[in-house]
Amino acid sequence: MRATARAQPNIALVKYWGKSDVSRNLPAVGSISITLDELYTSMSVEFDGALPGDVLTVNGEDDEAMLARAGRCLDAVCGENRQRARIDSQCNFPIAAGLASSASAFAALVVAADSAGGREHTIAELASLAGGASGSAARSLYGGYVELENAGDDIVVTSLCSATDWPLKVVVAVTETGPKRVGSTEGMEISRKTSPFYGRWIEQQDADLAAARDAIAARDFAKLGEVAEHSCLKMHSIMWGSRPPLIYWNSVTLECMHAIRELRSRGVEVFFTIDAGPQLKAICTPGSESSVTDALSATTGVRDIMISGLGDGARLVGDD
Ligand code: DP6
Repeated sequence: MRATARAQPNIALVKYWGKSDVSRNLPAVGSISITLDELYTSMSVEFDGALPGDVLTVNGEDDEAMLARAGRCLDAVCGENRQRARIDSQCNFPIAAGLASSASAFAALVVAADSAGGREHTIAELASLAGGASGSAARSLYGGYVELENAGDDIVVTSLCSATDWPLKVVVAVTETGPKRVGSTEGMEISRKTSPFYGRWIEQQDADLAAARDAIAARDFAKLGEVAEHSCLKMHSIMWGSRPPLIYWNSVTLECMHAIRELRSRGVEVFFTIDAGPQLKAICTPGSESSVTDALSATTGVRDIMISGLGDGARLVGDD
């Protein structure tokens, strides 16, 4: 009745922003991501009929705010008649700061719940269930380069290429450590309802997905970087054009972006992406990792640097 699973966050290269069905949390667009290695969430689920209600601790502290969402995710995996659960989440990186902590959390949660509850869902089914809790979580069920297809009534998630087949590096420049200003779920709805660019974004997504898929198949770093930066900046343009505007960057985020562009102009293989938070994620080839780390460390205002390779999808790490 108890299981522990581990999952890593993923970083989208072709972004997901917008939902076609809020109640089922269906994305309006497909997306492509890379799953990280060194950052992780470890999630234990224990069903216990004696508990008066579900309990969730995150890094040892009670977390009332996330409890209802975690409980609904357990209902989706194990059925609403399940026993109450003790859920314990341990995360080795900042939570809710645009580092995809909800992706690794819900990916690990569905795997742990499935095992603790004695269910035997396939990975594809677990991905779909994780996506119901948080769209990006569906991608963390798989490792390496992952595509989430918007299949209308459901999502289909597949691995395009393993981490070892194209072992790029990710250098995260942490520019702020507080929680994000507006959560993705709320931000996406604000954009859908108010941004004049939202419709064009939806129309163009298939072309960006095709370009990224081709670049990954050809291991074409420059082409992947071009489409990834375009997708990132287009998503932030929708955010800036929303009412109220969603501005997730700070001045250091922008400095980091310039530093990456400067490095690239000198021949370093690197590109950036930024999510719903102020951190900049630089994706580079292994040979460029030290130049990228040095440049971001030297950027005034960068508080911390985290380096990760690419890794595997969510998996069980222990059953009691
Ligand atoms: C900017 O998956 O956090 O990181 O489905 O509402 O939980 P919900 O949203 P979430 O959104 C991720 C948005 C993004 C881009 C991406 O990861 O594709």
